[in-house]
Amino acid sequence: MSQPPRSSAGGRHASLATRENPALRGAGFQDNCAICIRGLCQTFGEGELKKQVLFDNELDLARGEIVIMTGPSGSGKTTLLTLIGALRTVQQGSISIRGRELWGLSSSQLVDVRRNIGFIFQAHNLFTSLSALQNVRMALELKESDRAEMDRRAEEMLRAVGLGHRIHYKPQQLSGGQRQRVAIARALVHVPQIILADEPTAALDKQSGRDVVNLLKKFAKEQGTTILIVTHDNRILDVADRIVNMVDGRIISDVVVSESQAICEFLRRVPLFNGLLPDTLTKVADQMELVEYKPSEVIFRQGDAGDNFYLIRSGEAEVVFEDGGPGKVVATLDEGKFFGEMALETGEPRKATVRAKTDLTLCALDKEEYLAVKTASATFKEEISKVLFERQR
Ligand code: CMP
Repeated sequence: MSQPPRSSAGGRHASLATRENPALRGAGFQDNCAICIRGLCQTFGEGELKKQVLFDNELDLARGEIVIMTGPSGSGKTTLLTLIGALRTVQQGSISIRGRELWGLSSSQLVDVRRNIGFIFQAHNLFTSLSALQNVRMALELKESDRAEMDRRAEEMLRAVGLGHRIHYKPQQLSGGQRQRVAIARALVHVPQIILADEPTAALDKQSGRDVVNLLKKFAKEQGTTILIVTHDNRILDVADRIVNMVDGRIISDVVVSESQAICEFLRRVPLFNGLLPDTLTKVADQMELVEYKPSEVIFRQGDAGDNFYLIRSGEAEVVFEDGGPGKVVATLDEGKFFGEMALETGEPRKATVRAKTDLTLCALDKEEYLAVKTASATFKEEISKVLFERQR
């Protein structure tokens, strides 16, 4: 086994795709990080049959955060989940759960870690011969010894998930949604620091699925529990603070839902992006990099090579023609206006310097995405041509 790398706050990624977790920015990273993964690789099989399933993964989950992990089947999601859940031994890399490193732990130490984790699976694994109350109470038997106290807490938890009137029912007397709620009550009853859920809503109708995620959300916010949900269920994506996408054993994107949604909302109000279909708009918002500047900071200089297109999210920018002297301000652009299109259109260097006039937040789009948006939207293309014509005069 190779040594785990030391934990760190990770590199700074400004773009919304594969970015630093904003819930963990700044001081208190170690205190606030519930799950911290670095350089995680995992291999199954031996010799000829040896197959690597996870490749150098990094992921940070804050306390109280809900993260959804998506990706095709076979992409390594469940393997990652079982490693975080201390259900397997970490072969290479580091997983730290609330500051405790899992790499190198013995089986009994892994059991100890599992005591602070609640598991919810698609097949809810309830004991069919036991009542709802008995199933939930089982989760307490590892920690508690007072039977009356265990009954009280199990009943309270069943009431919290809306099953107070079904506590003595056995699984086959309950609907699919009710069984899943028993499984959730069982996962939550010992107030775990972390909940790992594998397709918790897959077998449920729309309303039951919604009830289940609302319950999880309530728990995350009230108890500071970190929740990682592996799912293909698009109906529940909105519950997440972040969505992580895994393909072929690698986390390929890590998107802050609230930030991405906010940019999406903003783009919807900008006429330039009017012609884009909602799906494309979401994709563009995910690709956008938010960049902040202080007054008089330069975004780029006249003569620089151009690789980004900029849309002003807030604040004002000045376009300056340099002439060897102090320069001449030819335009002041504000919220919803854009610049930097000329160099991308012509392949020539920047025609002017652009600097911040006030505090300025920009959405930057790289050349490739800019060209893709132009292809996808006639409105975008027309608007750019119009502005380009005016600016070139
Ligand atoms: P680009 O040449 O890539 O970089 C400088 C940018 O300034 C240019 O694209 C335009 O977006 C913008 N620009 C150039 N001339 C004008 C102008 N007259 N009015 C407003 N913006 C301009």
